[in-house]
Amino acid sequence: MPRTRRLLGSGGYNAELLAHIVGGRGRVVTVDLDPYVVQRTGRLCAEAGNSRVTAVLGDGGRGAPAHVPAGGLDGIVITHTATDIAPAWRDQLAEGGRLVVPLQIGGHTRSVTLVRGGDTLHAEHWTYCGFVRDRGAAARTAPMVRLADGAVTVRWENGVLGAYGPAGPEPARRFAACVRTWDRDVRTSGYPAMSVHPAGTPDDRLPPGDVLEKPASRLVLDWPGRGARVTGPDAPAETVVAGQST
Ligand SMILES: C[S@@+](CC[C@H](N)C(=O)[O-])C[C@H]1O[C@@H](n2cnc3c(N)ncnc32)[C@H](O)[C@@H]1O
Repeated sequence: MPRTRRLLGSGGYNAELLAHIVGGRGRVVTVDLDPYVVQRTGRLCAEAGNSRVTAVLGDGGRGAPAHVPAGGLDGIVITHTATDIAPAWRDQLAEGGRLVVPLQIGGHTRSVTLVRGGDTLHAEHWTYCGFVRDRGAAARTAPMVRLADGAVTVRWENGVLGAYGPAGPEPARRFAACVRTWDRDVRTSGYPAMSVHPAGTPDDRLPPGDVLEKPASRLVLDWPGRGARVTGPDAPAETVVAGQST
């Protein structure tokens, strides 16, 4: 079966490595929005490569529609940080195909391997990573504000916001208790089950879990241990439900 892989973010090196892996069975299409990078990639791959790499200029958020084989791509690798899952990545993947993406959630980036099943992507593997930011139409910058003449910068995303001022200590104390509980009872269980659904998917079609809204998708994260009722030893006066205090 012919296999095609696609790499977004196009220095050419990764593309040639992938072309080596797919061998004579397939091709690699690599997309970058920087004309200089695309031109240089095309030249270097022609000089040193195996002629199975095509360098394309464009915003990777739209994928590479002109290069998708019948039945879809068997793999997509994103080599810049993404804050959302572009619908084109899912739609251009074959059923069962894999999308590897450095996904930023709540300020943290993890490289996630997602497997397509219909219009849903299911997380198969997670690992730590750091990557350059998206520069395309889907690029997002976390809101920031400078305090104390620039000595402190506060930033927030996905609804998580620092609390300051005279009433600040109480929410900070509760938040710290939640973090301790989370560390002790949930985090050691590993990563959550995560699935990615198109924006607009009705609630009753989502699996159980915490829903994180993104512009193009709804992420559902189901932490093992989430909701377990535990008493924090350093906060005996309160019962903490993993992720929230009561
Ligand atoms: C870390 S480099 C990729 C290096 C490459 N994988 C290699 O083998 O050398 C990240 C690249 O992503 C590109 N990039 C960032 N946002 C993009 C987007 N939305 N669409 C396409 N390319 C993008 C940048 O122009 C940059 O060339």
